[in-house]
This record gives sequence, structure tokens and C-alpha cells, in this order.
Amino acid sequence: MTTHAHEHDQANDLANDFVQGIRLEDLWDDPYPIYRRLHHEAPVAWVPAAGRYLITRHEDVVFAEQHPELFSSREKESLVLKVMGANMLREDDPEHRRLRAAAEPPARPRRVRNDWSPIFQRTADELIDSFVAKGEADLCADFAGPFAATNLAHLLGIPRVPAADMIRWSQDMMDGNSNYADIPEVWDRAVAAAGAVEEAVDEAVRRLRDEPDGSVISSMLHAEEPPTLQQIKNNVKVIIGGGINEPRDVLTAGVWALLTHPGQRAAVEADPARWRHVFEETVRWISPIGMYPRQTTEDIELSGVRIPAGSRVALVIGAANRDEDVFPEPDRFDIDREQRNHLAFGGGPHFCMGTWVARHEVGEIAWPTLFRRLPGLELDPDRRVELGGWVFRGLLNLPVRWRRQNH
Ligand code: HEM
Repeated sequence: MTTHAHEHDQANDLANDFVQGIRLEDLWDDPYPIYRRLHHEAPVAWVPAAGRYLITRHEDVVFAEQHPELFSSREKESLVLKVMGANMLREDDPEHRRLRAAAEPPARPRRVRNDWSPIFQRTADELIDSFVAKGEADLCADFAGPFAATNLAHLLGIPRVPAADMIRWSQDMMDGNSNYADIPEVWDRAVAAAGAVEEAVDEAVRRLRDEPDGSVISSMLHAEEPPTLQQIKNNVKVIIGGGINEPRDVLTAGVWALLTHPGQRAAVEADPARWRHVFEETVRWISPIGMYPRQTTEDIELSGVRIPAGSRVALVIGAANRDEDVFPEPDRFDIDREQRNHLAFGGGPHFCMGTWVARHEVGEIAWPTLFRRLPGLELDPDRRVELGGWVFRGLLNLPVRWRRQNH
């Protein structure tokens, strides 16, 4: 063997040891150093702890998203299906397209701006009214969670469901979706939450059947090709599962980023048109959904690795969004970046249905309102900000304080 080939083998062995040794706890704590090594040494890697091939390069994730016929969303034995039943997220076209077309119209940009914006603004103001006099809050629990949940209840057409119920249902179903350890108590909670969502939809349907409004449930009910009642319920479950934590997480991550990057905070406070740059950079920098699953339908070669047909894979957008071939100095939070082709909302047929809702409620409403109404907003120096997750990643708390007004 030549020296060169020998070195090559040694490097392969090292990479192999590294991949075999990846632990889910380490990914949960801080996945980014692991992703950096994977980019260089094993961009398509079978990670035993995850039970999947992790695909981490930006161009490979884009390829997978552009070939849904090779990377199917209909994962066999998916836990999402077990908890929520068949829904748009885990279907392929043409069934997926039909379900999505029925639900999507209320989430389109113009509808968000005209119909939902005043409601989102009211939610923000009422929540801030509830704590502004205290001079301190945990913006995660006191603001971001209830803000996203209340807005979503309106958008869906179940406006009277309290934010606390929406948050609990969402969490319980999401815990079920990732209950790989098969813990019975987790299933019980997930089933109870799914049942509660079904009841709320039944009640909404009774009202909306004869009196349509601009909500998502109404849109599905009165669509040209309406889904069945069960499909409507399942779609509402998936929207509640995915429509609260992600906006909550981008909201808190963006506030934290600005509070720790004063120059960029000053830039955006001086020029509100820049809030949308803050939004795109925040979802790139800490992508609220870090990875989502697919299953291969044929043998495929990607970045030199052969993935057999039927394999479970993970499109790790949290890694692709820090791919240094696309985003120079990817770990830096920088609202001046020119490259904005991040994958935080996905990239193919399942491109997030709530993209414009999230951009608007967080970037146009929540952030400007918080920074305007909480003068001197800063991190609470006595409490630590905590972060976690890789499948979903975000701040676990955001303790802040501000100057109290004497009126
Ligand atoms: C910053 C906030 C958000 C992020 C980062 C995000 C991210 C994503 C991603 C990555 C996907 C693709 C998943 C896959 O292909 O398997 C997705 C799909 C989806 N998202 Fe979001 N999301 C956000 C907010 C929302 C909101 C507020 C809603 C509800 C209005 C929502 C509803 C959906 C739905 C229904 C799908 C499935 C679309 C389909 O199957 O065609 N998302 N989201």
C-alpha cells in the first residue's frame, strides 16, 4: 500500500469511529461542532444512535428536496402517523398536493397581512400589557409560547381554545412523535391530546359548515376538493404540532441574538425595514426545525455514499444552514449576509405552509412591538439563558428585564 493510500484509510477509520460514537445527548447540547466534522469527513453518514443516514451538506439536502420521488415523505412506521393519523406532512403528491391546497389559502402572504395582522398585533399587546409593569419576564414562557399559540388558534378557526391548552396539546403530540423509547405514559398523553384536538375541530366544523370564515378549518371544509373530516382533523393536529414551537423558538432566538449583538440591534432599531433580515438570519443561524425525516425509494448515491432503497434518512437543515461552502463563517450571527438561500422552511413540495405567518407574526409584529414597548430591554444578568435540541432546537428560557415606566 502507498503511504498516501494508507493515510487515506487511517482518515476513513477516524471518521468512522467519530460517526459511530455520535451520541444523541451531544447533538442535543450543541450539534454544530458535530455537523462541522460531518461536513468534512462524512457528509452522508449512517449514525447508529439516530438510526438514520444524516445528510448534512446544503447541496445534498437541496438535491433530496428536489427529488421527492427518491426521498419519500411516506416513512413506513412513522410515529407521526401513529400519533396524528394520515396527514399532508407524511403524504407524497398527488395526495399531498390536494390536502395542502385545501388548507393553505389563509396562510398566503396577502391574507396574512390583511386578515391576520391586526389579530397578531392585539395578541402581542395584550400579552405585554399583562407583564409590562413588572419590569422583568421570561420571554419564552410569558410571551413567545402564548403569542404563537393564540395566533394559531385564530388562524385555525378555534379562537376560544386557551393558549395553555394549545401549548399542552402541541407538546404532548410532539412528545409522542418522538417516543422512540415507547414509553406508555407518553403515548397516553399523545392520544389524549389528539382526542382533544378532534373535539375542538368537531365543534368548529359545526359552526363553520353554514357560516364560513377566513380560517384554515373553514378553508378545508369549503375547498374545491375537500378533505374528509378525519383528514381535516389530522391536518389540524399536524399544524398544532408544528405551528407553535417553531415561531416561539425563532422569536426568542432573535431577541437573544440582538441582545447579545448590540451593533446589529442598533442597526435594526434605526431601520425597521431590516427586521426581515433579522428573521431570515435567525432561522438560518438556529433553525427551529433542525432535521426532518425521509425514506429512500431506490438505491441512491450521494456525496460518494451508497444509500440502499428503503433507508431512513434525516435531512439535517440545521447543518445545511451552517454549511461553510454556502454561508461564510456560518456560526456568526450576521444580518448583513448576502446569501439568504437557507433551508429553514424546507425546500420541496412540503415547503412550510406557515412561512408567511411566522415571518409576519415574529418579524413584523412581535419583535418591533417588544423592542418598542420594553425600553432598555436587556438580558437578566442573574439568570442563564439555556438552549437545547437538534431535531427541534431553541431557547428553553429567555429571562430579560427593562426599565419600568412610572405611569
Ligand atoms: C419559524 C417558524 C417555522 C419553521 C422554521 C417551520 C419549518 C417547517 C419545515 C422545515 C417544514 C418541512 C417539514 C418536512 O418537509 O418534513 C414545515 C412544514 C410545515 N409547516 Fe412549518 N415552520 C414554521 C412555522 C409554521 C407555522 C406557524 C405553521 C402553521 C401555520 C406551520 C405549518 C406547517 C405545515 C402545515 C407544514 C407541512 C406542509 C406540507 O406538508 O406541505 N409552520 N415547516
